[in-house]
Amino acid sequence: MCGIVGAIAQRNVAKILLEGLSRLEYRGYDSSGVAINNEVGVRAHRAVGKVQALKDKFEATPLDGKIGIAHTRWATHGKPTENNAHPHFSGDDLAIVHNGIIENHDKLRNQLKTQGYVFKSETDTEVIVHLIHQELQSEPDFLQAVKNALKYLEGAFAIAVTLNDQNHRLVAARKGSPLVVGIGIEENFVASDQLALLHVTDQFVFLEEGDVVEVTRDGVTIFDSQDVIQERPVHVFNHNVDATDKGEFRHYMMKEIYEQPKVIAACLEGRISENKVLTDCFGADSSFLKNVENVHIVACGTSYHAGMVAKYWIEDLANLPCTVEVASEYRYRKVAVPKNTLFLTLSQSGETADTLAALRKAKELDYLTSLAICNVPSSTLVRESALTLLTNAGAEIGVASTKAFTTQLTALLITAIAIASEKGALSAIKEAELVNSMHSLPAHIDEALKQDVAIKKVSERFANKHNALFLGRGPMFPIALEGALKLKEISYIHAEAYPAGELKHGPLALVDEDMPIISIVPHNSMLDKLKSNLQEVAARGGELYVFADKDAELQNAEGVIFTEVLKVDEILEPIVHVVPLQLLSYHVAVVKGTDVDQPRNLAKSVTVE
Ligand code: AGP
Repeated sequence: MCGIVGAIAQRNVAKILLEGLSRLEYRGYDSSGVAINNEVGVRAHRAVGKVQALKDKFEATPLDGKIGIAHTRWATHGKPTENNAHPHFSGDDLAIVHNGIIENHDKLRNQLKTQGYVFKSETDTEVIVHLIHQELQSEPDFLQAVKNALKYLEGAFAIAVTLNDQNHRLVAARKGSPLVVGIGIEENFVASDQLALLHVTDQFVFLEEGDVVEVTRDGVTIFDSQDVIQERPVHVFNHNVDATDKGEFRHYMMKEIYEQPKVIAACLEGRISENKVLTDCFGADSSFLKNVENVHIVACGTSYHAGMVAKYWIEDLANLPCTVEVASEYRYRKVAVPKNTLFLTLSQSGETADTLAALRKAKELDYLTSLAICNVPSSTLVRESALTLLTNAGAEIGVASTKAFTTQLTALLITAIAIASEKGALSAIKEAELVNSMHSLPAHIDEALKQDVAIKKVSERFANKHNALFLGRGPMFPIALEGALKLKEISYIHAEAYPAGELKHGPLALVDEDMPIISIVPHNSMLDKLKSNLQEVAARGGELYVFADKDAELQNAEGVIFTEVLKVDEILEPIVHVVPLQLLSYHVAVVKGTDVDQPRNLAKSVTVE
């Protein structure tokens, strides 16, 4: 999704901004631009496609200056063209970059047109810069003019604005879209994501809803939504390794798949002892664990799939009703909240607009409390939730979520066991057994990764496929959904997933010799039922890709390509057996030559509806 970088320094900021944009590439975008403010005015370069195209423009025609703003755009209003790329201007001296969506842009555009403003783009962003320009006609102070203009806007935004005047400063603001301030030595920055600024600082201030900030070389002044100056804490970025480094791997996605043993260990650390879950991992007040009578999980995409797995665990271990819903649906419907329901959100980024809106709605309703399972400690979701369990996966750069998913599952299993134990639904012996299994998770994932070479070989058979069907049963059904999502996201192969028992109720009609059917068949209680479903496919000439453990007693046969997966305790199967599917989609994408880390049309952090 769109990314913002802004800088004010004593040195030329062009390189800082371009490097910042490169670091934001992982979020997904289709064009980019930079505006540099210097003694001759504000000048910009914009380019469609990769940030490299913008860098080439800077190479050919350098722009130097000590103040600048930059942007990667993910098209919402208007096609990904150079004209629609940010920064947008009003006159020659005022430029803006913007993330989010201005919902009343049509009305504002019409009003501005009647006042003589001429629009050069189809974007909603251009209305903001003209509004600021209009305010500047009666309000000479740039900061105040921006504040005045913001009052007209409905929707979500993070903006950074520069004006070529005597006061050297940047003005930025957020409402509904994230924005951080980076603090340097006699230079300061703004960005939509702290990763964009790690090459220049590790000190960050996270802006809150409604904040407007004035950034100069020497300081930062933050005004809250009531226009009162606020001091906000400075956070020091504490990742040991810069996540934007791919290391020995060709793609971030592969690096992140291989990081899973390490980050799952980090997710478990301090949350489980030798034989029990340490309930203080939910914070000082973990009384909700005893009082909860229902759980409602809300999330999007991959995080939603993690929630679907958790439903099986919570109902099975804690014997409590658990419902799971996509956030974009929850936020717009009338909901009935059963007594003592825990509202649980899942999000890798903690900035997903629909999930945040769902949380805000839930806070108005009668839930027991809200718990966020999230990977980004500084995110809006974490800040706005009553309770948090961090997944500790480290920054995830690949758009296709991998390590964020398996750490979400790990955190969810911790939560399910904690609830079950506190509710008295789990004996101490059973809890010890489960926790013991969890200790071996990192080693199991390490083992699962050893199938990489075999899976790469299988992936070659998908080079010319256009469709695929994933099957699973029980908690492996959401894993089938996740496998299908991974394949479509990065290889652009149309893929669907079904609970295997649903096959004969419709999808069986699709099965022929061209349709690969991928099935994860761990040796669990559903094995025999799943085997009969596979027979139904084989009988219709479908090509079967079966991932099963030794005990499932399946093997290569005509039309059956068998890949052995590790035998693990049933409760861990969803976490361990999603790994072969991640590897499969990765290798298929490489075979097909797609952009693995930044698939077309997708964004890492979906900060608009
Ligand atoms: C995962 O591969 C996807 N890119 C996407 O479905 C993602 O999980 C979804 O947008 C939710 O994001 P979140 O976890 O950051 O809220």
